[in-house]
Amino acid sequence: MAGTNGKSNGKETIIEVRDVVVGFGTHIVLKGADLDVYRGEILGFVGGSGAGKSVLMRTIIGLIPKRAGTIKVFGQDMGAASDEERRAVERRWGVLFQQGALFSSLSVRENLQFPMREYLKLPQRLMDEMALAKLEMVGLDGGVLEKFPSELSGGMTKRVALARALALDPEIVFLDEPTSGLDPIGAGDFDTLIATLQRTLGITVFMVTHDLDSLHTVCDRIAVLADGKVIAAGTMDTMLASTHPWLRAYFHGKRSRAEPRPAKGHAAPPPGGPV
Ligand SMILES: Nc1ncnc2c1ncn2[C@@H]1O[C@H](COP(=O)(O)OP(=O)(O)O)[C@@H](O)[C@H]1O
Ligand SMILES: [Mg+2]
Repeated sequence: MAGTNGKSNGKETIIEVRDVVVGFGTHIVLKGADLDVYRGEILGFVGGSGAGKSVLMRTIIGLIPKRAGTIKVFGQDMGAASDEERRAVERRWGVLFQQGALFSSLSVRENLQFPMREYLKLPQRLMDEMALAKLEMVGLDGGVLEKFPSELSGGMTKRVALARALALDPEIVFLDEPTSGLDPIGAGDFDTLIATLQRTLGITVFMVTHDLDSLHTVCDRIAVLADGKVIAAGTMDTMLASTHPWLRAYFHGKRSRAEPRPAKGHAAPPPGGPV
């Protein structure tokens, strides 16, 4: 684990989660979660449905309060930050949410310019140029600027949402199940896009996903959430070599690539396992 100076094995820890507890009423979702995200990596964040992946992501970005623990982003302790310090950090990340990826009542142009209006004071003409540049980054053209989300395909919606996450030239992007709902080819194209953006822009990617193909093809490391804690973090090879029952069921299960046709009697995923 990295120390508080944010350096470990030459890697810079850009997000540091320590002993974080989050609950709703009597339902404790995160029971002391620890996680490091290193600068420049694509981290895949996995866990069963309802495990708390979205909750941890939303806690890191400050949308859900934690009951205990610390979260540092760029070395800034978010719990101790002033409003001004918090805004300065928020300005450096972009988010693609699992639900409601876009504002349905706003055009693509307005969606893309929403974060710009929130954090930058720029003339409209410049924001228009920026919106177009972000669309091109995600493989779309200006033809979609005046469209509304209901007029877009699933794949285009995800691309526009990614373009919006990139609006402020972030150092980190948080993606919550960006390929869910896409067909395998669309999902593969989206993965390629994320990998290309990470390479060309050097951004750090925190990606919640259920998509084993994404984990194999684009993620540098994987972190696994189960029973309210991050039970493992490491490369895919580390995951595949693990003897932990949850990891074996997940990474060697029916849907995995490692063992496309598991032997009969293969252990079922533990309760609350992957869907
Ligand atoms: N705002 C909320 N109020 C109450 N319970 C919530 C809230 N958000 C999430 N939860 C609960 O927290 C648990 C984890 O949810 P979530 O993080 O969305 O799971 P997932 O790992 O599938 O993303 C679930 O049991 C969910 O019902
Ligand atoms: Mg979720």
